[in-house]
Parts: sequence; structure tokens; C-alpha cells
Amino acid sequence: MNIIEIIEKKKNGFELTDKEINFFIGGCTTGKIANYQISALLMAICINGMTNTEIFSMTKHMASSGICLKWSGIDGIIADKHSSGGVGDKTTPIVVSVVTACGVKMVKMSGKGLGFTGGTIDKLSAITNFRTDYNTDEINNIVNNIGAYMGGQTHDLAPADKKLYCIRDVTGTVNSIPLIASSIMSKKIASGANILVLDVKAGGGAFMKNANEAQKLAELMVNIGNAAGIKTCAVVTDMSEPLGCAVGNALEIKEIIDILKGKSKDKRLYNICVILSAYILILSKKAADFDDAYHIAEKALKSGQAFRQFYNIVQAQGGDVRLLEDISLFPRAKFIGEIISEKNGYVQNIDCESIGKISLLSGAGRIRAEDVIDYSSGVVLHKKCGDSVLKGEVIAEYHTNRMECVDEIKSGIAGAYHIGKEKPENIPLVYKTIMK
Ligand code: URA
Repeated sequence: MNIIEIIEKKKNGFELTDKEINFFIGGCTTGKIANYQISALLMAICINGMTNTEIFSMTKHMASSGICLKWSGIDGIIADKHSSGGVGDKTTPIVVSVVTACGVKMVKMSGKGLGFTGGTIDKLSAITNFRTDYNTDEINNIVNNIGAYMGGQTHDLAPADKKLYCIRDVTGTVNSIPLIASSIMSKKIASGANILVLDVKAGGGAFMKNANEAQKLAELMVNIGNAAGIKTCAVVTDMSEPLGCAVGNALEIKEIIDILKGKSKDKRLYNICVILSAYILILSKKAADFDDAYHIAEKALKSGQAFRQFYNIVQAQGGDVRLLEDISLFPRAKFIGEIISEKNGYVQNIDCESIGKISLLSGAGRIRAEDVIDYSSGVVLHKKCGDSVLKGEVIAEYHTNRMECVDEIKSGIAGAYHIGKEKPENIPLVYKTIMK
């Protein structure tokens, strides 16, 4: 078999066989196929697409390119969740705390953030001493003791995806439904969970800019998961404005603590967390139907059980729990300032990608993988879409240690807000649920 023939075949629109896909993924993992040949095949896939048979085959071979975790040391079923990522998306620590407080076990492995969307691991690392790098024996112990673990993906999990993702990132081949689906699902299959809820984001702050494309991706991932023996469902949710009010690591952890303590300011973030938790409860048979599941998840939040479970997780993973009791102990940026509205009206739209980029500029993210994050920096949105605003009122707040960036940060946040005269129509929170 030869990679040039495989590239030609896909370029001419033909279906690749399982053997050819296995050859390609094997060659990516061992380094026998050159990066320029990988790029050529990725571009041919982007342009000509893949059949479901090809996508299933690609996912299977990517999953088995490294270790496939098995949680045989943990009693009972293991649940997992995945979000396709977006600005201010802090649902994971909340959902994990809620569902594990309700008796479901979860091992949640996340990647670090790169670019304008933050990663869960970076957010959790804003809690002093919180460790995300336990080995499998230690994870087994933690989950057997408290029912939950949140950590980073190990290097040996789906290494073929790591290689492909790096090349896609710099060859304009990220945005392809077959490539996104196989990338996400290969890691989920290798992570060893029995149950999976996918939160597929649609909108300006997400990979999928519209709900129809997001739905296609969601359907495909649900089919891949179920075919691999993982009970999978997906919720297509809105990402046209940042999720919640805080964007930036310590700021987002403070918002998570507020939600877990019942002091939520953002109804959409609260609702999305309850909805995702409810679907995990349904798949793990802890609830009879959606209403029952929603009620159980809400009770865990309102009773303080979910907060206590978050406390247990932070303690079990070495984090300083004093921060959870007193949020003033989190690091504070040197330069904090307000953005003031210059007119009366309603917030029509907040450009998600701009807020993500401003948060990055303030120090909250990485442009290169080796960049060091400043946990205290970011943006707090005081006004969200549909809110009324008066001239002179505070719409947002910036936090940074980079004095030289303050002017750019201020004008960037102000430019991301679109304020108009009429109250805009409500944007749906959930576009579609896919459960088979
Ligand atoms: N997240 C992934 O892990 N892979 C993609 O291709 C896109 C988002």
C-alpha cells in the first residue's frame, strides 16, 4: 500500500477502505508518513468529505493508536461529558459536581485551551495546588472514594489525533465535520466511559457557526458513540454570546462557586448545566424521564450537595479548599476597570470571538502551547444579550496585569458590545437534542 495512491483516491472522490485508513493512521502515529502527505490527505477529506463507514473506521483506528483506558478498578458505570468548546464555557466542573453528587461516577479528561477558547484544566488550575495529572491507579482510588475525577488527557491517549490536530490547526483543515467528529470521538472512546453526553455548540464563539451544521456533527458523533458501545446523546446549544458572565480562569472558578452556592447571576449558564446533568442522569438510569432528571439535578444544586461534592473533588485532588470558602483569596489582577455604555438601549449581541481574544490579550490564555497563563486576568460581563442598558452604566469589567494592553482591552470590549434601541428576540438555549 502506498500513501500517494491513497491521497489520489480521496482526491478523486472515492471511498477509502478500512485497510487504507488503518495504514494512514498507523503512518501518522509512527511518523512514517510525512507531514506534507498528511496535509494533502486532510485537505482532500475536507473537500470531498467521508462516508459514515470511512468516518467510523478513522475514529476506531485513531482511538486504538494509543492506550485505551479501562476502568475495571472502579465499581459501576462511568459517565463522561464533552463540550465542543466556546468562550466562557465552564459547565464541566458544575455538571461533574451535580451528577456525582447524585451517585453517578465520572472520570472527566479534558484538554488544555489553545486560542480564544479556554480549557477546563486551566480553569481548575486557578485553584492553588489542584492537580490534574494523576496516574490511572490514583484516578481509580479517587473515583472509588468520592465518585469523581477531573484531569488532563494523558499523552498516550489517541496520539494519532494529536498529530493530525496539530497539522489541521496550521493547514486550514480544522473545520470539517468528519475530521472534528473522528477527533473528538477517538479520544472519548479511548477514555473508557460507558455513558457520554455531548454538548455541541453553535454560534459565533464555536467551531460550528450555525445550528444546522452543529446538528449534523452531533448526529454523527452520537452514531459513532453508540456504534462503539458507549450510550451517547447530544445537545446542540447556543454559543452566540459568552456562556455566563466571567471569561478567564480564576474569574470563571468564582462564577462556578457562585452557581454551586445557589448565587447564579446567569440563567442560561445555570440552565445548560442542569440540562446536561439531567441527560447524564437519564442515560445512567438515575431518573425516569427528563422532568424527573431536571428536578434531581436542580435539587443537588439548591440543597448545597453539589457544592459539597465540588469541595470533595478539590480536596481529593490536592487543591486549597480555603478558596472555595473565601473567594477573596483568589489572585487579583493589578489593573481592574469598568467599561461604560455610551448610550441607552438593549444589548443586541456580544461578539463572542472578540471577548475570547480580549481575554487572551489580558493574559488569560495561550497563543502558543508553552505560554504561561495569568489566572487572575479576564473579562466580566455585567450586561448580557437582551439586557437593558442606560448611558453611563457599567456593561463589563476587565482584569489584567498588563498595563500596556489596557487601552486595547477597553476598546476591544466596548467594540464587542452592540447596543440598539429595540429589545432583541430571545435566542434559544437548546436547538436540538439527539437521543437514540
Ligand atoms: N475538539 C477536538 O478535540 N477536535 C476537533 O477537531 C475539534 C474540537
